[in-house]
Amino acid sequence: MNIIITGASRGIGYATARAFLSVPGHQVIAVARNGKALATLADACTEGSRVILMEYDLTTPPDDLAASAGKIFDSLDILINNAGYLVNKPFTELERGDYLRSMEVNFLAPAFLIRALLPLLERSDIRHVVNISSMGGVQGSAKFPGLAAYSASKAALNNLTELLGVELAEKKIRVNALAPGSADTEMLRAAFPGYEAPVTAEEMAGFIFSFATTAWKVISGKVIPVALTVT
Ligand SMILES: NC(=O)c1ccc[n+]([C@@H]2O[C@H](COP(=O)([O-])OP(=O)(O)OC[C@H]3O[C@@H](n4cnc5c(N)ncnc54)[C@H](OP(=O)(O)O)[C@@H]3O)[C@@H](O)[C@H]2O)c1
Repeated sequence: MNIIITGASRGIGYATARAFLSVPGHQVIAVARNGKALATLADACTEGSRVILMEYDLTTPPDDLAASAGKIFDSLDILINNAGYLVNKPFTELERGDYLRSMEVNFLAPAFLIRALLPLLERSDIRHVVNISSMGGVQGSAKFPGLAAYSASKAALNNLTELLGVELAEKKIRVNALAPGSADTEMLRAAFPGYEAPVTAEEMAGFIFSFATTAWKVISGKVIPVALTVT
């Protein structure tokens, strides 16, 4: 399979890229700003799998990324929009820039990347887009003070997922979102120092891998909570 994973330099995206690369025959374009960290993915390659490193800031237009991907892949089977930005600040201290950056990385980047990659997705028999959202953006879930900008941007991503499940159905492109609860990564440790996540990045990645490779046959337009808590 041909896969693009954003935010593959650390945390859940890094572990997900490694999960794909450990299976022969997978070609993964790994996207993030930190090229040095991306380069360490090479040692996860097994016989017949390949990683292509793409240093890219997803707050810039995705045209160059899509053009490069089109030169590397004949078709794109799975796009995993995993890169994320979290700002944890009281509502009264959040600035306009905090909201803008949250929306840029967590909502606009996936939206425009999906659009730029549609022609490549349409050449695949699989055509699965998996947006990595958050429980914080799920309607009715327990909310955490300080995450107003983050959770609202993830809610926007969830809504986009449901909408594209319908709008892209005629192209047979399946669009789903996974909404993790908490996984032990730099993002979580920085936002909630001292909190012990019940799930490792590798465990979360294992689930993302299984979902991305199988769910396209039966699910589209859904936002799926991936959490051990009930709400
Ligand atoms: N960990 C959790 O408990 C948890 C819970 C719910 C949802 N999530 C979601 O899961 C996803 C992964 O989270 P994580 O915990 O693994 O986060 P992380 O450890 O902070 O990793 C974030 C990744 O996103 C990349 N990234 C951020 N801004 C970027 C930009 N402008 N351009 C390109 N890449 C960018 C980072 O790479 P560079 O810095 O190298 O660019 C990094 O690879 C996120 O969408 C997050 O919201 C996580």
